[in-house]
Amino acid sequence: MTHQPFHDLSFDEFDEVASPRPEFSEFDDVVERAISRRGFLTGVVAVGAASFLTGTALGTGTVQAASRFGFTPVDANTLDDITVPDGFNWHVAMKWGDELFDDSIALDEESRGTALSQEKAFGDNNDGMTLFSKGGRNIFVVNNEYVNRGIIFGNRDSGLPETDDDVKKGMMGHGVTVAEIAQTDGKWSIVKGSELNRRITPATAVEISGPARGHDLMKTAVDATGTKAFGTWNNCGNGETPWGTYLACEENFNGYFSASEEGFEQTPDQVRYGLKNEDWGYGWAKVDDRFDLSKDPNEPHRAGYVVEINPFDPTSTPKKRTALGRFKHENAEVVIAANGQVVVYMGDDERGEFIYKFVSSAKFSAAGDNSDILDDGKLYAAKFNDDQTGDWMELNPETTGMSSQAEVCIRTRVAGSAVGATTMDRPEWVAANPNKAEVYCALTNNKNRGIKPNAGGDDTSPNAPNPRPANNYGQIVRWIPVDGDHTSNAFKWDLFVLAGNPGVHGNTDPKSGSRNVTTANMFNSPDGLQFDDNGFLWIQTDGKYSNEGDFEGQGNNQMLVGDTATGQIERFLVGPKECEVTGCTWSADRRTMFVGIQHPGERGDSSWPDGGNSIPKSAVIAIQRDDGGLIG
Ligand code: FEO
Ligand code: CA
Ligand code: CA
Repeated sequence: MTHQPFHDLSFDEFDEVASPRPEFSEFDDVVERAISRRGFLTGVVAVGAASFLTGTALGTGTVQAASRFGFTPVDANTLDDITVPDGFNWHVAMKWGDELFDDSIALDEESRGTALSQEKAFGDNNDGMTLFSKGGRNIFVVNNEYVNRGIIFGNRDSGLPETDDDVKKGMMGHGVTVAEIAQTDGKWSIVKGSELNRRITPATAVEISGPARGHDLMKTAVDATGTKAFGTWNNCGNGETPWGTYLACEENFNGYFSASEEGFEQTPDQVRYGLKNEDWGYGWAKVDDRFDLSKDPNEPHRAGYVVEINPFDPTSTPKKRTALGRFKHENAEVVIAANGQVVVYMGDDERGEFIYKFVSSAKFSAAGDNSDILDDGKLYAAKFNDDQTGDWMELNPETTGMSSQAEVCIRTRVAGSAVGATTMDRPEWVAANPNKAEVYCALTNNKNRGIKPNAGGDDTSPNAPNPRPANNYGQIVRWIPVDGDHTSNAFKWDLFVLAGNPGVHGNTDPKSGSRNVTTANMFNSPDGLQFDDNGFLWIQTDGKYSNEGDFEGQGNNQMLVGDTATGQIERFLVGPKECEVTGCTWSADRRTMFVGIQHPGERGDSSWPDGGNSIPKSAVIAIQRDDGGLIG
């Protein structure tokens, strides 16, 4: 593997050459000097991670730059409400329990519904989302990651499922909701009874495609062929393709399995993927043997994939694209490389796990059939070198010692370890800049950094992209593929932001964060990332909302926006109590931004969005400008 030389250009200078800005104005010069970005970034290059942490480049002042954002930032708060800047408004577009079909049943707040009512309603805990628009119709597709047990089973004293129907109700709260939406007096809501509405649940027939299809490790009691799975669950972030499909990413699939056999001993692979003898309280094995490890040890091999869904055909069969690997998928960011190959960037959200890239064999064809393009290609894991170069390490039988590509696609974490990929601080969403070849990944936090290895035994000592031990604030790493070519095996990287708390930790402690973090914009645990059409990076958090100790002054979870050209970050939204903010998409006219509010009141202290004595509900809100202008 050869590195393309970056000549003698600094990262910023290379950036300019590779993707010149349309105009270089005095303004750029002003922000550049104000932020001293060069100081922050090249500090990493020149002196390495250790000095970088204690060097003067870090946290020595407040970012003072003219804002290119069209809003006045909001302060952190702990209200049980949504806060957006002056000049913006919001409404709930859809929420847990909303009716999808003519025969749907309204959510009963007392019983919190039944398996049947939940199967026909908007699922719980909305996460990644995409609004597809075609022929004047708007099809909203959104993941329902998991259920809030204390709420959906809140009618039971145990706060857990107590009957088979309870268990099934929980199952039906998972999966994906596809709903046509429309505006009435400017406000969005679900078109009940639309023939395009659909629920995809842990019981929906799903096809297994790609290298692992039919492999012995995929064969189970209910599917001797290893080609037909049932359902998808714990769908976290998402992706969308240029050919009009939706990608639902299976994340913490392990938490639904348990073992009924006394003293069941997990295999090393089961340990690596977090499978345990007890589930996380969902009880699925009580109603379905698939989830009993001691009865069907191969079933977990059929989860942990990216699932492709055609949102316009409710009868279509979703497909698990095994070529993209099996791990705790956060999201799937699709870009088309200059030569037409499809590149998918993906994070594995676990402490000390890896970042991945898939490159298709075939090229995208705007007019052609791309329906199976994600079944064939190469899979890579990222190695971040301390000198700010990086390598994509191909995962194949030769590089990993595995017997086949099918095995690589099933035991992907083990394959990543075999090639020496870099252990990361919980890779969450990946987002690609629409204006240039540059990719960002939120590394949300990692209490185990420098404390203990990952579940595969890989070393997790602090390294350059993950420089802080017991990292409780998180950071955002970004990389530029060499020659701006997403298919290249080499890249350059830096840190866009180190989150922290300068209010608590002062200006020189690494816990104060990078210099684009101030007491005015601070946050912890970046998770959702999404670029808008302007090239601004929206950052959503899923972190500590105690507002105490290390998190004092940071308030509830929130959404910020970053200017990747200047490093400036400002807070746009604060969510209600005990929520996380996750998932983001826009209307075709860009006059509405949809944002997901997940698990408000997860510990019992919220009645958002309905207020009063109502139970809290995850929801998708629609944000608009008071003047009807563009947003994002
Ligand atoms: Fe479902 Fe990694 O968040
Ligand atoms: Ca997430
Ligand atoms: Ca999360």
